[in-house]
Amino acid sequence: MSEFAEIFEVGPRDGLQNEKREIPVAEKVALTDCLSRAGFKRIEVASFVSPKWVPQMAGSAEVLAGITRAPGVRYAALTPNMRGFEDAVAAKADEIAVFASASEGFSKANINATIEESITRFLPVLEAAKDVGLPVRGYVSCVTDCPFDGPTPPQKVAEVARRLFDLGCYEISLGDTIGQGTPETISAMLRAVVQQVPAGRLAGHYHDTAGRALDNIEASLDLGVRVFDAAVGGLGGCPYAPGAAGNVATEAVHKRLTELGYHTGLDADVLDEAAAMARAMRGLQ
Ligand code: HMG
Ligand code: MG
Repeated sequence: MSEFAEIFEVGPRDGLQNEKREIPVAEKVALTDCLSRAGFKRIEVASFVSPKWVPQMAGSAEVLAGITRAPGVRYAALTPNMRGFEDAVAAKADEIAVFASASEGFSKANINATIEESITRFLPVLEAAKDVGLPVRGYVSCVTDCPFDGPTPPQKVAEVARRLFDLGCYEISLGDTIGQGTPETISAMLRAVVQQVPAGRLAGHYHDTAGRALDNIEASLDLGVRVFDAAVGGLGGCPYAPGAAGNVATEAVHKRLTELGYHTGLDADVLDEAAAMARAMRGLQ
C-alpha cells in the first residue's frame, strides 16, 4: 500500500478571499458541498476576520450554516482574535486557525500587530479553544520571502512555529504567501523548523505565483512533510500580500502526489468537477 499524503483544501477560504467579484454565499456553499464529496478530511471554508479588512469573507457564518456536512470532514475557520473565535464557535466550525507571520512587515500589514502582539492575542483563543475541545491550527506566513521585508531567515520561521506549537496548535502550516520560495529556500527553512516542531506536525502551504509550488512540495516530502494545503482550480491569493497569486491547485497536487507514489484518498473526477466550478466562479472557462 502506498503512503498517504493529505491535501487540506483551502479554496473556499484562501481561494475566495481574494476574488474581486462578490461571490454569493450559495456559490460558496455549492463549491464546498462538491468538495465534501471528493474525500477531503479537512476543508477551510470560513474566516471570522474584520469585514472591513476582508469583505469577501463576510458571509462566513452563512456558509457554515448552509453547507451539508459530510461525516468525517472537519470544516475550518480562521480566527484572528477572541471575537473571531466566538463567531466561529457560534457558527459551529469544527476547527479553527490562528495566523501569524515570520516577518514583521507582513504581520503589520495583515493583522495590524507585531509578531509579539499577535501571539499575545492568540493566547486567550488557544485557551478558550482548549476549554471547548476545538482543535487549533497555526499558520506562519512569509516563510521564505516577505513582500515588505525581503528574504525571511529560517530561524525566525522556526521560532514562530515553535511558539505556536507550544501554545497548543496541533499542526503548523508554513505559508509561502507570495510564492517566491524555491526548493532550496523551502528546504533550508524546513531544516530549521524540524529542529523545533516534528515534521509530522507540519503542513506546506504554498502559493504558486512563480510556478514552483509543486517542486517545493517535492522538496518538502523529502524532509518528511505529508500535509499540503491547496485550493481547487488554483483559486486565491492574499489581499494584504502584494503579488500573491493563487494557492497551488488541488488537482495538480493530487496528480503530482499520485505520480510520486502517494495516495491522497481523493476522487479525481470530483476534483475536476470542483475545479470547473472554481474556474467558473473566477469568470474563466
Ligand atoms: P484592527 O483594525 O487592528 O482591530 O484589525 P480593531 O480591534 O481596532 O478592529 C477594527 C474593526 O474590526 C472594529 O470594528 C472591530 O469591531 C472589528 P469597528 O469598531 O471599526 O466597526 N473586528 C472584527 N469584526 C469581525 N470579526 C472579527 C473582528 N475583530 C475586530 N474577528 C484585525 C485587526 C485582526 C481584526 C484585522 O487586521 C483583520 O481582520 N485582519 C485579517 C486579515 C486577513 O484576513 N488576511 C487574510 C487571511 S491570512 C492569509 O491569507 C495567509 C494564509 O493563507 C497563509 C499564507 O498564505 O501565508 C493564512
Ligand atoms: Mg495563503
